[in-house]
Amino acid sequence: MANQEDIFKKVISHAKEYGYIFQSSEIYDGLSAVYDYGQNGAELKKNIREYWWKAMVQLNDNIVGIDAAIFMHPTTWKASGHVDAFNDPLIDNKDSKKRYRADVLVEDHVAKIEAKIDKEVTKAAKRFGDSFDKDQFLSTNQRVLDYQNKATTILKRLGQSLEKEDLADVKALIEELGIVCPVSGSKNWTDVKQFNLMFGTKLGASADTATDLYLRPETAQGIFVNFLNVQKTGRMKIPFGIAQTGKAFRNEIVARQFIFRMREFEQMEMQYFIKPGTQKEWYEAWKEKRMKWHLSLGMGKENYRYHDHEKLAHYADAAADIEFKFPFGFKELEGIHSRTDFDLASHEKYSGKKLQYFDPELNESYVPYVLETSIGLDRMFLAVFSNSLVEEQLENNTSRVVLKLPAVLAPTKVAVLPLLRKDGLPEIAQKLVNELKWNFNVVYDEKDAVGRRYRRQDAVGTPFCVTVDHQTLEDETVTIRHRDSMEQQRIALSEVKGIIAKEVDMKEWLKGI
Ligand code: GAP
Repeated sequence: MANQEDIFKKVISHAKEYGYIFQSSEIYDGLSAVYDYGQNGAELKKNIREYWWKAMVQLNDNIVGIDAAIFMHPTTWKASGHVDAFNDPLIDNKDSKKRYRADVLVEDHVAKIEAKIDKEVTKAAKRFGDSFDKDQFLSTNQRVLDYQNKATTILKRLGQSLEKEDLADVKALIEELGIVCPVSGSKNWTDVKQFNLMFGTKLGASADTATDLYLRPETAQGIFVNFLNVQKTGRMKIPFGIAQTGKAFRNEIVARQFIFRMREFEQMEMQYFIKPGTQKEWYEAWKEKRMKWHLSLGMGKENYRYHDHEKLAHYADAAADIEFKFPFGFKELEGIHSRTDFDLASHEKYSGKKLQYFDPELNESYVPYVLETSIGLDRMFLAVFSNSLVEEQLENNTSRVVLKLPAVLAPTKVAVLPLLRKDGLPEIAQKLVNELKWNFNVVYDEKDAVGRRYRRQDAVGTPFCVTVDHQTLEDETVTIRHRDSMEQQRIALSEVKGIIAKEVDMKEWLKGI
């Protein structure tokens, strides 16, 4: 079996080869941690965004969507706490001169301990065969329990030190764990320092009158400052939500792992405004709701888990991540945060404007509490893309590379292939393309043997291929081939649209959530 690093390299090269993701400004050797989406990537990204928007806005009577600007009044970021507290703890290695996030160094160390647990499980599964009970093994094997205990203790201490801003203890922890610089191999570390992640820019024509601005580091604040506008114009009653998708910018220092951590990325966020005191129940409800959304895509229950935060952000009284099993292990995909009234109350204070809701049932006004769900669109893209890419051994001793994207998200839904480039077959195929393209993205491909064309569509992730052959001339039937099972069926030309429509209909995918 290929190791994690090899699998991840394959994901990155496949994304490039098939027009999904390119390094930004590649002809100038690229820009670190900035990426462009190609012709297929843009479609997949749009489909993920739409899948989220439909589930969040269209299917919830009490959630509406907005589209706020990236630039905001600079006081926004003072009020939100980002100017003072949106920092990463950094540490330099004096020998390699490389800079790291101190918390990531510790988390990577913990990931190695967790990998040892996985190894024990694999070994035991082999030893015990069919009678192996993973849960029982995890809760009784002494070696595994020791590893788990070690990992939990380290993460707890890290969380507490960061919470208390005790950066000396973070350094002490790195030293005690014997963490070495991956480049120099030395333990020669500087002190840990805080570094603000916001990008600054200027608004205005001349240097002396220009105003300092920030590129927004989260989309959420565009929702908070519009809370009353939406509530009043939409006559919204608590509980209600405001959703939006859009770009956010962070000067990430440890920007690696492809599109997992970028400097310019897109978020899909929803702020749910609730009555103070009800935050616990809404927190649990949204944790569950969001997990259901993820599971609706059928990417395997075992690939998700919750991770409750030890260290809470400056605005939260509870927070959890939905983690996904990326090629480099379980990592945060989405955050669910109970943000209390921190943001609205702070904007009230800094703006001098009341940001309250009059509750007709209680006959009183209050600053609502907020429950937030926040997912990175690019990170969701990586989850979907990496999970879908598989290399399959086939019966005839060959293999195929197939991108098993959920059909509802696939950039192109169907490829139409005339078996030969003659006898009127291309004309019938083109006619079918012209009909289907009103409903789906369709490609027409007549080059190479049909087997090779199937492989090309497998690799790019097209869920259906429809082949027009000589029998079509006689009885108006075609072959439809399903990407994942490679099964082929003979169906009437007139049925093609209906069969595909059902398989890619968002309603069919989302109705279980
Ligand atoms: N409004 C809350 C907020 O922004 P966050 O946990 O900092 O919370 C939310 O970010 C989500 O945004 C993350 O779960 C992740 O999916 C995505 N995200 C954050 N930083 C990112 C980055 N540098 N590159 C790509 N996605 C990122």
